[in-house]
Amino acid sequence: KPVKIAVAKGDGIGPEIMNATLRILSAAGAHIEPEFIELGEKVYLSGNTSGIDDASWEAVNNNKVIFKAPITTPQGKGYKSLNVTLRKSLGLFANIRPVQALTPYVPSHFPAMDVVVIRENEEDLYAGIEHRQTQDVYQCLKLITRPGCERIVRYAFEYAKAYGRKKVTCMLKDNIMKITDGLFHKVFDEIAVEYPEIQNETQIIDIGSARLANQPENYDVIVTANLYGDIISDIAAEIGGSVGMCGSANIGKNVAMFEAIHGSAPDIAGKNIANPSGLINAAVSMLAHIGQPEIGDKVKNAWLVTLEQGYHTADIYREGVSKERLGTKEFADHVITNLDKT
Ligand code: NAI
Ligand code: MG
Repeated sequence: KPVKIAVAKGDGIGPEIMNATLRILSAAGAHIEPEFIELGEKVYLSGNTSGIDDASWEAVNNNKVIFKAPITTPQGKGYKSLNVTLRKSLGLFANIRPVQALTPYVPSHFPAMDVVVIRENEEDLYAGIEHRQTQDVYQCLKLITRPGCERIVRYAFEYAKAYGRKKVTCMLKDNIMKITDGLFHKVFDEIAVEYPEIQNETQIIDIGSARLANQPENYDVIVTANLYGDIISDIAAEIGGSVGMCGSANIGKNVAMFEAIHGSAPDIAGKNIANPSGLINAAVSMLAHIGQPEIGDKVKNAWLVTLEQGYHTADIYREGVSKERLGTKEFADHVITNLDKT
């Protein structure tokens, strides 16, 4: 019986990369039944200021799995980020963002890079507690709770254990934010002792992120607060090859949402040049999550073979390394052809 999933095609490059990915999933024989929902800028511009209509909201609540292309959120104005709203209202407390360099097939300065950023996904400065205090004073509250820290830190160690990873690094700014980030650090130390087989370390986020950018091979699993995790996962993805390569899983107790880590890339939308790999990787972890790991592996292998053959989208194309620069659709076609080779 196919697994029902809510699917949002999103804004910008969203529909292009979602259509490409859904074609691959269908060719691979994924047992899924998509229920298409509308959310994001299109809905907002049509007059619904929340950015999501009632039917889609109901579909989100009726499905245990959401597969979502990026959506556009206006900067500094307009509706509240729907990503933040979805993560918070569905209790998606953990955001898992793996980055693995694929040298020599995909150029990266860091061939040995293999990092998983585990980001707390509901609290911190993204809790949405922001207001204007007086004429010229504005405030944004940083929310850190003990249960929130415990959940994400435990998740990171359990993840490390399950995937045979050796080290968890916690990155914070607890020299300055002694009470909030200090609590996260304290909880990290408390929980780390329960996992003696896994190394642990803490770094202050400024030097930590700088070292991540310079020596990513020294990191394995990184656990951090929401804002820091958002920033360092983009850095990690970009130095690993391209922000277009990485997918993410937003995990909650009852619901999970899978998406690319990047945004709607309006600068390249509608040109058939976006890299669908981030969403393809998100789909692979979604398939594992819904109990179809062998189909996920098949998709992943076909994707790897395609990259190995040198068929690259523009963001990872390099003269002398790549064989051919492909559009979004054509890249997906090659992945589909390669499904038979695995
Ligand atoms: P972005 O991630 O959309 O784009 C940053 C840069 O990376 C751009 O130059 C873009 O062309 C490139 N890029 C991104 N994805 C790519 C892909 N798959 N293939 C090739 N190149 C790719 O970030 P930006 O421009 O800051 O944000 C655009 C919009 O996306 C904003 O409205 C933002 O709020 C939204 N956004 C949505 C997210 C989501 O729905 N989960 C996550 C991040 C941003
Ligand atoms: Mg981001």
